[in-house]
Amino acid sequence: MIELICRTETDTRAAAGRLASLCRPGDVIVINGPLGSGKTAFTSGLADGLGVEERVTSPTFVLMRTYRSGFMPLVHVDVYRLSTAGEFEDLDALDEAEGGVIVVEWGEAVASALGEDRLTITIEVADDGARTLRMTPSGVWSSRPLEELVS
Ligand SMILES: Nc1ncnc2c1ncn2[C@@H]1O[C@H](COP(=O)(O)OP(=O)(O)O)[C@@H](O)[C@H]1O
Ligand SMILES: [Mg+2]
Repeated sequence: MIELICRTETDTRAAAGRLASLCRPGDVIVINGPLGSGKTAFTSGLADGLGVEERVTSPTFVLMRTYRSGFMPLVHVDVYRLSTAGEFEDLDALDEAEGGVIVVEWGEAVASALGEDRLTITIEVADDGARTLRMTPSGVWSSRPLEELVS
């Protein structure tokens, strides 16, 4: 597990941008943390790092958005409004993300549908607004040099 302190949104985006260089096709990233903690901001920074040209906006209402203008596809899912792993499976998000990276906000709830190979990021908000990002790798992520993200 590695821990990053991000004092501003810019810090959070930059950390996510560095993570992009560790991403490989087929990767699964889960982001947990309360509403407004920066899950979408992080995803947007990751998109920048992947060369995505479009602006990333929250998929809370559409559930899933795919960006194809980067080096590999980025699928961004927000499962806040889903209650079961079955509903997640019905989205066919993993098929949609084939050959690319999938980021699942609130992914904890559907972890059973996501498999072992994933990077789980948990965001905690301090009283002064700083975000602590805890990144826990499992499966293929265990051999990635996450320490490179500590700037
Ligand atoms: N250190 C920080 N990292 C990320 N976002 C921050 C930070 N400090 C303040 N913010 C603000 O918090 C909000 C995060 O929103 P968003 O990314 O949509 O959250 P979520 O997707 O977790 O609901 C944004 O308005 C952003 O400007
Ligand atoms: Mg969000």
